[in-house]
Amino acid sequence: MTKLFQNYKRAAIEFVKAEGNYLFDQDGKKYLDFSSGIGVTNLGFHPYVQEALQKQVSQIWHTPNLYINSLQEEVADKLIGDKDYLAYFANSGAEANEAAIKLARKATGKQEIICFVNSFHGRTFGAMSATGQDKIKEGFGDGVPHFKYGIYNDIQSVKDLVTDQTAAVMLELVQGESGVQPAEASFVKALTAFCQEQGILLIVDEVQTGMGRTGKLFSFQHYGIEPDIFTLAKGLGNGVPVGAMLAKSALGGAFSYGSHGSTFGGNKLAMAASSAVLDVMTSDFLDEVLQKGQSLQKQLVDALENNPLVTQVRGVGLMIGIETTGDLTDLVSKARDKGLVVLTAGTNVIRLLPPLTVEKDELEEAINILTDIFRI
Ligand SMILES: Cc1ncc(COP(=O)(O)O)c(C=O)c1O
Repeated sequence: MTKLFQNYKRAAIEFVKAEGNYLFDQDGKKYLDFSSGIGVTNLGFHPYVQEALQKQVSQIWHTPNLYINSLQEEVADKLIGDKDYLAYFANSGAEANEAAIKLARKATGKQEIICFVNSFHGRTFGAMSATGQDKIKEGFGDGVPHFKYGIYNDIQSVKDLVTDQTAAVMLELVQGESGVQPAEASFVKALTAFCQEQGILLIVDEVQTGMGRTGKLFSFQHYGIEPDIFTLAKGLGNGVPVGAMLAKSALGGAFSYGSHGSTFGGNKLAMAASSAVLDVMTSDFLDEVLQKGQSLQKQLVDALENNPLVTQVRGVGLMIGIETTGDLTDLVSKARDKGLVVLTAGTNVIRLLPPLTVEKDELEEAINILTDIFRI
């Protein structure tokens, strides 16, 4: 009898070993990983990250935020470069978003935040309240007030919700959990201009889209914008729990001494992993991710466009959704039987988040299996 809460639906498989982009279960069966956890181990089980972690463990793995942490400075520096941002480190995506919500409220002195229908921002009370999906909130009573929900890709719906109390607009640039839905360039451009004009902060949740997933370090770089605040987690530590909230330096005053914090945030191990991840994610590496993503998407379109079970293949970089009328549970389990681990998103999407280090022959292996499982 399990002593665990049954809040997850777990497959009867335990992954006990990993090599590069492959996972091995308790029976020694080998799987090609096209999930990266849930968009976390973006570099697979990379030896450079492993070495950085081993080195850090052999020195010291935790110090409180009462002392200088040069690894935090190092990671902030690698994330920010010569841009005018400041970083705060947390332990998860939800926590990074909590920090963003608190900063936006405190910096503006206003409370309303406009989010979007079908968004996902996490499971803590603030992040859950920001999330535009009723099923995530069911049974938990009143959420944090003052969140409103616009229609994704509909600028007028945002304008209609703005009041003189609007602090920020918060969005994912590809809605991940609800179905791999990219934001349209014209919408993002109009939204950014509108927010600037109205003095409303723009918060981009890069928890799933960030850290190279879309072929840029941050997905907002595809749109040529610079959000006032953005959040990271998942791929930042490549599996070591970490989150980050980055905001324009002008907002720094609102997070003054004592205003916000976390015991573990920016932990040495998490920072050692994050720093190593950022070393690997050079611009050449990211260009390759973009190319691999384009090639994967094109090959999937070619293989599946006439399949009666497939409605659409979409995505950005190596964040790809296959919208289907088929049974998701059945498709995922067929893929797993054939040695491919994939995810779902929303009610009708197979989500592919392969490690960004995926090789050409691994892409082919996955395309063959995916073509196979959609065969009827
Ligand atoms: C866009 C986005 N924001 C926030 C979160 C929450 O992150 P975490 O589970 O690390 O709290 C997720 C998780 O899937 C996410 O996809």
